[in-house]
Amino acid sequence: MSSLYSITLFLHSWNRWLILIAGVIVIAAAIRGLSSKTEYSSSQRKWSLIFLSSLHLQLLIGILMYFFISPITMQALSDFGAAMKDSALRFWAVEHAFVNIIAIGLAQAGSILVKKQNNSAGKHKRTLIWSGIALLLILAMIPMGMMGVDRPWFRF
Ligand code: HEM
Repeated sequence: MSSLYSITLFLHSWNRWLILIAGVIVIAAAIRGLSSKTEYSSSQRKWSLIFLSSLHLQLLIGILMYFFISPITMQALSDFGAAMKDSALRFWAVEHAFVNIIAIGLAQAGSILVKKQNNSAGKHKRTLIWSGIALLLILAMIPMGMMGVDRPWFRF
């Protein structure tokens, strides 16, 4: 395994935990905010920023691996037709990349809409909907045995 490949896989694998932790905190705070009718706080703003920044980092590393580093996606790109017939290749070349790009787009759109909304209940609601859908899509695309693709939870 080339060292650049192992470095990017390592970063992409660990950054997944930052995304998941920040995502859960963002959503839990929105639910709490809605149920106890509290103001949208600066800590919520901070965790939303951490969630979005970690997603942007994941997108950047993902695109680098997808087009230049991963032997799996390079093989898929060299014969896309054949890759579509192989479920593991298709998972990386299509499902994982595209569903996650959509999820990141939804989280980004949500954050813009939250900024535009000026009452706290509306901010909580928009956070819950947009980040909630994004997090569900991200969870569905983490390779944990579904679709025949399994990867370590913790990469060393
Ligand atoms: C929130 C978004 C994402 C999460 C949580 C995520 C998570 C993961 C995880 C856990 C792995 C396995 C790493 C390992 O083997 O240790 C992986 C691999 C990979 N991801 Fe992502 N990913 C995300 C977004 C993306 C995006 C947007 C792309 C491409 C545009 C992408 C491309 C890849 C590639 C190419 C691999 C490596 C395949 C190989 O083993 O060669 N990922 N991702």
